[in-house]
Amino acid sequence: MTSPSSLQTDASAALFDRARAVTPGGVNSPVRAFNAVGGTPRFIRSAKGAWLTDVDGNEYVDLICSWGPMLLGHAHPEVQAAVAEAVARGTSYGTPTVPEVELAEEIVARTAVEKVRFVSSGTEATMSAIRLARGFTGREIVIKFAGCYHGHVDALLASAGSGLATLAVPGTPGVPASSAGLTIVLPYNDKVAVAAAFAEFGDRVACLITEAAPGNMGVVPPAPGFNAFLAQICRENGALFISDEVMTGFRASRQGQWGLDGAVEGWVPDLTTFGKVMGGGFPAAAFGGRADVMAHLSPEGPVYQAGTLAGNPVATTAGLTTLRLATDEVYDHISAAGETIKSAVADALAKEGVPHVIQATGTMFSVFFKDAAVSNFAEASEQDLPAYTAFFHAMLDQGVYLPPSAYEAWFLSSAHDDRAIQQVLDALPAAASAAAAASATEKAHA
Ligand SMILES: Cc1ncc(COP(=O)(O)O)c(C=O)c1O
Repeated sequence: MTSPSSLQTDASAALFDRARAVTPGGVNSPVRAFNAVGGTPRFIRSAKGAWLTDVDGNEYVDLICSWGPMLLGHAHPEVQAAVAEAVARGTSYGTPTVPEVELAEEIVARTAVEKVRFVSSGTEATMSAIRLARGFTGREIVIKFAGCYHGHVDALLASAGSGLATLAVPGTPGVPASSAGLTIVLPYNDKVAVAAAFAEFGDRVACLITEAAPGNMGVVPPAPGFNAFLAQICRENGALFISDEVMTGFRASRQGQWGLDGAVEGWVPDLTTFGKVMGGGFPAAAFGGRADVMAHLSPEGPVYQAGTLAGNPVATTAGLTTLRLATDEVYDHISAAGETIKSAVADALAKEGVPHVIQATGTMFSVFFKDAAVSNFAEASEQDLPAYTAFFHAMLDQGVYLPPSAYEAWFLSSAHDDRAIQQVLDALPAAASAAAAASATEKAHA
């Protein structure tokens, strides 16, 4: 699938050819290849604040923000200065350092975790949390939800087996059946399915892992009380509740999704995973939780886990500086910018008669191209994908960089100022009209 672009994209196209010669699909993470929407992925040369500049010199308002991390916008001067100072002191020692202690203290102060261990990616965080849960409970089964993404961990790249509460099958070639066979995949927001799985497998379940609020099928907020129910049923069955806040952590609110539910309702997950914002744009992630559970981790306890670059001083400095700058004003700004964009998107799509639903949790939101609320992955999958594709390309052509997939959250930063927001608003009417035209064409061919 290709898409005509009114922008000059020769340099990106040439780089994409070179990249494909040496890298599978030309990218180092699949969504970047534009496979879902077609066209030429833009190679970004530089970024500042809310803006990306590609190798052809085109400028875009960035509504991806590196898939979440850039809460303060790109090249924030204070983060840059702190990182430059850290780099000048040397980039990695393989010893304990000051910033990793300070970042751990900051995370413990903001969230429900008592102890935290740093790793280099969200995938490592969820993989390690699951190993710890298995080591702590002496059990093997993991429960997850369809549409929740937790990185490319074998046991979590699983698809539901046939029927409710059955063991899963591999979600991709390369995942052993034995690995996926220890996972149960359930529909999100479905208490009955969760209860049935625990009734069948309760004494074999090591942990249930869920995105604290799913953002990887678009934003699908937990039904009121759903996370509390998960925490409780895990506790009743001797399993650990792992809340994956890699995306929502320090993003949905100052305290992540937990700040919007657990902190209000008075419950805490046994383990939580973090990534993205806490790395300030560098490869840093973490898992943490109850001190008695974390005490099972090496070198304190028997569950092995390690990392050459874990807690890297440059990455933890970037994360620490970012979190220290992530004040209530930052979240208020992002929230207000989000409200402006959400209502303008809704107006533009409504005007063109394009079915849509906008869903949010805290400051995180996404737009579904369908006409009914989405509470699980099956419902998220009923979108009008050609309409989104047309909308995406029309926005891109007008200098607005949306996620190249209908199943992603849109991200803003404290650097999204009036000029950036206005560029988004100005682009909406033409994009909505393109979406309406694509929808009509699709119906005519149906
Ligand atoms: C909720 C969630 N968990 C885990 C991950 C994996 O993180 P990483 O891509 O850093 O491995 C992601 C990545 O998008 C995520 O959104």
